Amino acid sequence: MTKSIVLSVNGREKTIFADPEEPLLYILREEFGLNGPKFGCGLHQCGSCMVLSDGQANYTCRIPCSAFEGKKIETIEGLAQDEKLHPLQQSFFDEQAAQCGYCLNGMLINALELLRKKTNPSEEEIRDVLHKVICRCGTHSRFIKAVKKAVDSRSKF
Ligand code: FES
Ligand code: FES
Repeated sequence: MTKSIVLSVNGREKTIFADPEEPLLYILREEFGLNGPKFGCGLHQCGSCMVLSDGQANYTCRIPCSAFEGKKIETIEGLAQDEKLHPLQQSFFDEQAAQCGYCLNGMLINALELLRKKTNPSEEEIRDVLHKVICRCGTHSRFIKAVKKAVDSRSKF
């Protein structure tokens, strides 16, 4: 049965009518038109569906949309401002970190969570968070380099 649910996504509140059990990923794609978070495994294993929810990197492929009510949801579409890439996106671009790009969403979200919590994370900490995301193209080393570059830029995340 559908129900009205209020979600705050990238600073915009919207009331949707949906099955409260429907995973957030489908709502983001269908109701908000956001295609950054992607369906990969549907099993909380690959990380391609992740968003920030109150600053925490969270899966969306299985967690019901109603569980996100009252939380501040951020997707990668909310990062660039005034057509200027977010500093983390710029570092990923400069390092040409992605190959096919399917994992890019998960990489950005997890790196962002880390950089907002720690201004100067160690390489081990960077590896630990990026390890949560499966990259089928095997470009983890480029993503690590890109996050280190973002740290060195001393930007505000
Ligand atoms: S699609 Fe959600 S973790 Fe893989
Ligand atoms: S760049 Fe292709 S899956 Fe990571």
